Amino acid sequence: MTPDAEPPSVFPSAEGQCVVVRVDMNVPLEGGHITDPTRVLESLPTLQTLLNDEPRQLHILTHIGRPKGRRVPELSTRVLLPLLEEHLGVKVAFREDLTASDAPVQLHENLRFFAGEESNDPAFRAQLRGLSPEKYVNDAFATSHRAHASMVGFHGQVPCYAGLLVLKEVRALSPYVIPEKRIIPGLTVVLGGAKMETKIPVLRQFTGVAEQMLIGGAVANTFLAAQGYDPGSSLYEAEMTDDAMEILLQAEQSGTGVHLPVDVRCADGLESPLVLDAPVEDVMGSMQMLDIGPHTIASFREIIAHSSAIICNGTMGVNTHPRFAAGTREIFTAIAKNSGTTLIGGGDSLEALQREDIDPQQFSHVCTGGGAMLEYLSGKPMPGLQGLENL
Ligand code: 3PG
Repeated sequence: MTPDAEPPSVFPSAEGQCVVVRVDMNVPLEGGHITDPTRVLESLPTLQTLLNDEPRQLHILTHIGRPKGRRVPELSTRVLLPLLEEHLGVKVAFREDLTASDAPVQLHENLRFFAGEESNDPAFRAQLRGLSPEKYVNDAFATSHRAHASMVGFHGQVPCYAGLLVLKEVRALSPYVIPEKRIIPGLTVVLGGAKMETKIPVLRQFTGVAEQMLIGGAVANTFLAAQGYDPGSSLYEAEMTDDAMEILLQAEQSGTGVHLPVDVRCADGLESPLVLDAPVEDVMGSMQMLDIGPHTIASFREIIAHSSAIICNGTMGVNTHPRFAAGTREIFTAIAKNSGTTLIGGGDSLEALQREDIDPQQFSHVCTGGGAMLEYLSGKPMPGLQGLENL
């Protein structure tokens, strides 16, 4: 993990052109409001640069959430319009059907309302190309590990470039790409959150590379269930316990220490008046594991303090509820205080930093990507970054 990267160059002028720009404005929403605008704000430099070039037309594409090919009104990208218009200072037209109008700047509906986006369907790729761009810009670093239609469908068809955010992320992360599969002394990977299926490939990649792995959040619940603990009524993924067991075995054979919670903060539900800290072996029935407990926090902090490099993605519990936020707050603060290399990423992690008022400047880099950051660091090829002329 040594810095040696060449800074990539910027994309050429879009003057007079029709441009499609794929951004990742997968923002967290609560009651129809954006709770953390970081991903929108991080996309502004590219959008502003393109607009300054006076393109003939600018089409903005993004997804929000995982609607799985269905129209889910709460996940409409319409929610982004006021923020975009305020910051860009231009009128932005909204398009529901991914077709072009005459408007100079157009924001399109959530790409994942259309099944062809995630399946990378040729007909859907052709539909997107129907916007007739003369240039395609990928500024969605956070989605660049996905071979989705909007991420790869323009490659080889029109000149494709990396946007400023992609360039910034690549510049910041490339010095830390894991060079080969061997244990890096002092490297700790901290994983949390809920998306087990996106964490499994990454856990496999970092097994035999990280010296220590600290696992919290709902991901840990699945591991605990795999080890035979009763998860009670906790969120966990029963169909993934075999994968979890396999990862634990691989880790043991390859010298990576995996640390799971030894105690947890539980309640019968997020609103339940009774909250208690319990050893994991005492969880049962209606109890839900909603945060890591104080003993786990202490031992995770200890490992973090003795690490020389930390890669973190995902929260330790349901940190959007103050009663279950301590684990995330304590662990993120401990990482922020570490004087080694500290990389943190993912939508939920960004939101937690903001919510807990932890200064992002304390980290070596705060990445807009979660899964994308981990896959990039593990050296896996990123479909969305291939074929970009300025990378
Ligand atoms: C993210 O939030 O990490 C990106 O927007 C990608 O989302 P996904 O994991 O649902 O593909």
